[in-house]
Amino acid sequence: MNLLTLETTCDETAAAVVNERLEVLGAVVASQDELHRRFGGVVPEIASRAHLERILPVIDETLRRAGVRLSQLDAVAVANTPGLAGSLLVGLVAAKTLAAALEIPLIAVNHLQAHIYACRLASGENVFPCAGLIISGGHTSLYRCLGPLDFQLLGATIDDAAGEAFDKVAAMLGLPYPGGPSIQRAAAGGNPAAYRFPRAFLHDPKRLDFSFSGLKTAVRYTIAGPGRPDLAQVRLEPRQVADLAASFQEAVVDSLLDKAHAALAATGLETLCVGGGVAANARLRQRLEEEAGRSGIRLFVAPLSLCTDNAVMGAIAVERYRAGLFEGLDLDVFPGVVRSKGL
Ligand code: KG4
Ligand code: ZN
Repeated sequence: MNLLTLETTCDETAAAVVNERLEVLGAVVASQDELHRRFGGVVPEIASRAHLERILPVIDETLRRAGVRLSQLDAVAVANTPGLAGSLLVGLVAAKTLAAALEIPLIAVNHLQAHIYACRLASGENVFPCAGLIISGGHTSLYRCLGPLDFQLLGATIDDAAGEAFDKVAAMLGLPYPGGPSIQRAAAGGNPAAYRFPRAFLHDPKRLDFSFSGLKTAVRYTIAGPGRPDLAQVRLEPRQVADLAASFQEAVVDSLLDKAHAALAATGLETLCVGGGVAANARLRQRLEEEAGRSGIRLFVAPLSLCTDNAVMGAIAVERYRAGLFEGLDLDVFPGVVRSKGL
């Protein structure tokens, strides 16, 4: 079975061909980082326009790399939730068109479930049931993952996503977009204890939510703010940038680690899977490994190539294919998080 998967939820245009054994025959990710860099974040209209220009060349190149012709495709899958409405629509229309023209089944992919499935794909192990920590530019949430297609929400950010905080704080420090890798680089030479930034809800192990906007404001007011100069007038020394980056990163990592382990304790689950762009963070990966060693839990962190958005993780569609979960051509996009069962 040759399955084509498409991913256009945010600012990556991606496609992959996988088979029923979850082998990747070909995959392409066209990043839009260059287009959004001067704005310090993703501009939705620019993202959807760029998807439109790139989706067909990306599909062509993916098929070429896979050595598979259109006529050899057996199903097409597309991430239709959650994400930016305009971006999601480009992938959805491309997938529907292929499904109709080739007369093959159409399969819906939940992007958040796919981020956790990256752990299943890379490890080759049955990672379920597990606590799933999804940390990206748009989401920071914890799920009880009973199976690849059966997630129950345990907690989520009440304001900014972790990746969004990385991107915004990077902009404050004059570091380029995307902020996560920039902060990680700057933090490598910094002291994580130089500034004491807030860690939300740390005192409350029953609450499995996150909050990063207070942390973001704390960094902002440390640099500039009420009673201090304007941000635009501040010139930070390289040492200050490194210390601020390291202290901010440590606060995010502390929060993520604390709530992930609180979720394991609250649910009795013994496996933790971590996926999403922020899971690429080296300090987070190191601290997760250390903590797992101490507590004895099974830890799966998505490999670097499958942390940021990609279509390979859309191989989760194989699970839906096996379960006979196909969609009609009236399938829609759902930009927000679907909270009901079936997520
Ligand atoms: O999963 P993703 O590609 O897109 C969404 O679904 O949102 O995540 C992108 C986010 C960005 O905010 C980016 O700054 C962050 O992941 N990110 C990182 C790192 N690499 C990417 N954050 C921290 N450290 C990194 N090394
Ligand atoms: Zn994502």
